Amino acid sequence: MAAVVSLASAKGGCSKTTLAVGVGAELALDGYAVVLLDADLNQHASKFGEKATIPNFSVIGEVDESNILQRMKTAYQTADMILVDLPGGSSMVAVKALTKSHFVLIPAQHSIMDARDAMKTVAQVDDAQELGRYDIPRSLIWTRVMPGFESAAAKRVRIDMENIDVPKFSSRLMHRAAFQEMFLRGEVPRQFKPGGSEAENLAAITAELVGNIERIAERQAPGTEAAA
Ligand SMILES: Nc1ncnc2c1ncn2[C@@H]1O[C@H](COP(=O)(O)OP(=O)(O)OP(=O)(O)O)[C@@H](O)[C@H]1O
Ligand SMILES: [Mg+2]
Repeated sequence: MAAVVSLASAKGGCSKTTLAVGVGAELALDGYAVVLLDADLNQHASKFGEKATIPNFSVIGEVDESNILQRMKTAYQTADMILVDLPGGSSMVAVKALTKSHFVLIPAQHSIMDARDAMKTVAQVDDAQELGRYDIPRSLIWTRVMPGFESAAAKRVRIDMENIDVPKFSSRLMHRAAFQEMFLRGEVPRQFKPGGSEAENLAAITAELVGNIERIAERQAPGTEAAA
């Protein structure tokens, strides 16, 4: 069965679409069949999908609250991984996606506004968990991290958040022009700058996501409770 991963945040512009496209393409290049459901009003992932020529990578556009569950059902038939690129803020499409997610990735920059809004998103995931009556593992991921430089304000937010009990990815999305260039080219850094730090960065994030999903699958596998 396919794993559903939503990219969600109450904050706009925190790299949800960049990560959905980057990680989705990376997974497809690794051999997974990937369907990216584009529920972002700006449809940048769909435009990337039109340009991309990556086998087993398809982007379904114009996903909204009225059709997301149907689109997910259809995607289940072919996909190993279903990624959902959600719009910023809270919305019915987000509630539906979160309730159906096996994992939620919450991107946040090292800013107090992003951190506050990330915590709102954590609360939305908790609500979705109540609605669906099963655990929805989630993790924050720091985004647009400046290589080699951390401002005092960014450091303060990072340290404050370290004390808050929400899982955080150890890999972070660095601030790099290549992550903007992806959308011009319809390619990810692994294709246009192989071996570069950006390709390595996306590979590390993708590996961490896959590791999380594998752990969830192990926990849910029948008989694991008895074996534990
Ligand atoms: N790691 C990065 N390095 C450089 N630029 C980035 C990075 N991540 C995002 N950006 C830029 O920041 C802007 C917002 O990113 P993106 O669209 O991915 O955020 P979003 O969370 O999907 O926004 P929205 O809430 O509007 O859907 C874009 O212009 C994007 O190119
Ligand atoms: Mg977006």
